[in-house]
Amino acid sequence: MSWETDREESRKRLERDLETTGKKALAHAGRAGRAACAGDGIRPDWRGRYPRSVTFPVVGMVGGGQLARMTHEAGIPLGIRFKLLSDTPQDSAAQVVSDVVIGDYRDLETLRAFARGCDVITFDHEHVPTEHLRALEADGIPVRPGPDALVHAQDKGVMRARLDALGVPCPRHRIVSGPADVAAFAAELERGGHEVPSDKGGGGRRAGGFPVVLKTVRGGYDGKGVWLVGSEEEAAEPFRAGVPVLAEEKVDFVRELAANVVRSPHGQAVAYPVVESRQVGGVCDTVIAPAPGLDDDLALHAEQMALRIAQELGVVGHLAVELFQTRDGRVLVNELAMRPHNSGHWSMDGAITSQFANHVRAVLDLPLGDPRPRAKWTVMVNVLGGDFPDMYSAYLHCMARDPQLKIHMYGKDVKPGRKVGHVNTYGDDLDDVLERARHAAGYLRGTITE
Ligand SMILES: Nc1ncnc2c1ncn2[C@@H]1O[C@H](COP(=O)(O)OP(=O)(O)OP(=O)(O)O)[C@@H](O)[C@H]1O
Ligand SMILES: [Mg+2]
Repeated sequence: MSWETDREESRKRLERDLETTGKKALAHAGRAGRAACAGDGIRPDWRGRYPRSVTFPVVGMVGGGQLARMTHEAGIPLGIRFKLLSDTPQDSAAQVVSDVVIGDYRDLETLRAFARGCDVITFDHEHVPTEHLRALEADGIPVRPGPDALVHAQDKGVMRARLDALGVPCPRHRIVSGPADVAAFAAELERGGHEVPSDKGGGGRRAGGFPVVLKTVRGGYDGKGVWLVGSEEEAAEPFRAGVPVLAEEKVDFVRELAANVVRSPHGQAVAYPVVESRQVGGVCDTVIAPAPGLDDDLALHAEQMALRIAQELGVVGHLAVELFQTRDGRVLVNELAMRPHNSGHWSMDGAITSQFANHVRAVLDLPLGDPRPRAKWTVMVNVLGGDFPDMYSAYLHCMARDPQLKIHMYGKDVKPGRKVGHVNTYGDDLDDVLERARHAAGYLRGTITE
C-alpha cells in the first residue's frame, strides 16, 4: 500500500478548492437568503442537476452487471443517488436500483437522454463506443473515466502502443493481419527478436515460436476473445470476426497479479496491496490479498507502476492493472480495466475502504478512503453456477460452518460456469482462510457436499 507522492500537494489543492467553493456557497446563500451549509465558510454547497431540495449528486452508471450492483451498494451509506442504464430489467443491478432506464448503450440518443439526469457518468463495462463518450463530454456531462483514458481499456492495441511509449514492460506483441502474419510473428519470437514489419508476412511456412496468444483488440471478457494457438493453421479463427487481432508471446509466468489503484480528478491516488489472481479456464477463480510471498520491492514497483499508468493516462476511478509475474522476477502488464474489477472484490470485506466505495468517491471527486487491509489475509473465491440452481439452500450450512464468511450474490440466474457471486474470508492463517473460502464457494456451487 502506498500513497501517491504528490499526496501533500493534492491535499493542499483540495483544501484550496474547498475554500473557494465554500466562499461561493456563502455568497450564494446570502443572495438566496438560505441558512445553507455555508455558515462556517468551508463547506461546499452541492447543488446537483436536480432543483429544489435535492442536495446529493446523481451518479449515472452505464451497464447493469454485478459491478454496478456493488458500486450502487457502496454509495448507499453516503446517500449518493444512483441512476442505471441497463440492457434488461433482470440485470444484476437493475434488480436493486430504483431509477433504471432500460436501453442500448450503443445508441447515442439513448445515452444522451440517460445522461441528462446525471451529474457524472461512469461504467461497469468498457464497451460504450469511444465516440459516444466524446459526444457526452461535448454536451457538458462529466464522463469518468473519460474517453481518452478509457480507450486504453477498450482497445488492447491502443493500450499496448501507449504502454510501449511509456516504457511499461509488456509481453512482446504485434497487431497481425492474418494467419501468415501470426506465423511470422511466432518466428520472430523464436529468434528472440526484434520487430519485423508485419507486411513481410510468413509466406505460409510452418514457423517455430508457437504457441502464440491471439486476442481481438475490442470486446473480450472472461477469456472470451483470447486464443492460444499452436500453429498457423489454428490461427484462422480469431480473424473470422473481422476485428483487428493482437498477437502476443505466451508468457511463461509463475503467477498472475493485479495492482489496483484509484485516482480522483484532483490527482489524489491510492494503491491497494498487490494481489495474486488465479484463473481457471480463463476466468478469475481465486484472489489472495496481499499476494503471498511477493517481494516487497517488486510489490512497491508494481504499485508505483499502476499509479504512474493511472496518472499518465488520466484515469479517474478504479484502475486494475493485470500483471504476469515472470520466472526471473519481473512483472509484465497483461491488460488494464478502468472500473471496479474482480481482483478487487476482496476489498469489500478486507480493506478499510472498498474498491467500490473508492470508485464512487473518485468519480465524485471526493477525498479517497484508506485502501489498507483490515486483516493479514483476505481471500476471495468466485461462485460459479453449477448443477444446482438453488444456492440459497446452501446458506444454512455455509453460514453455520463459518460465521466470519461473507457471501455476495449478484441476483443472476444460475447457469453452469457463470459468475453468480463471490465469497470473502479473512484471518491470520492463509491456509485456513483459503480452505474456508474454497469450501464455501464449492458448497454453494454444489461441487462440495459436506
Ligand atoms: N500473453 C499471454 N501469455 C500467457 N497467458 C496469457 C496471455 N494473455 C492472456 N493470457 C491468459 O488469458 C487470460 C485472459 O486474458 P486477458 O486478460 O487478456 O483477456 P480478457 O478476456 O480480456 O480479460 P478478463 O478475463 O480479465 O475479462 C489471462 O488472465 C491469462 O491467464
Ligand atoms: Mg484479463
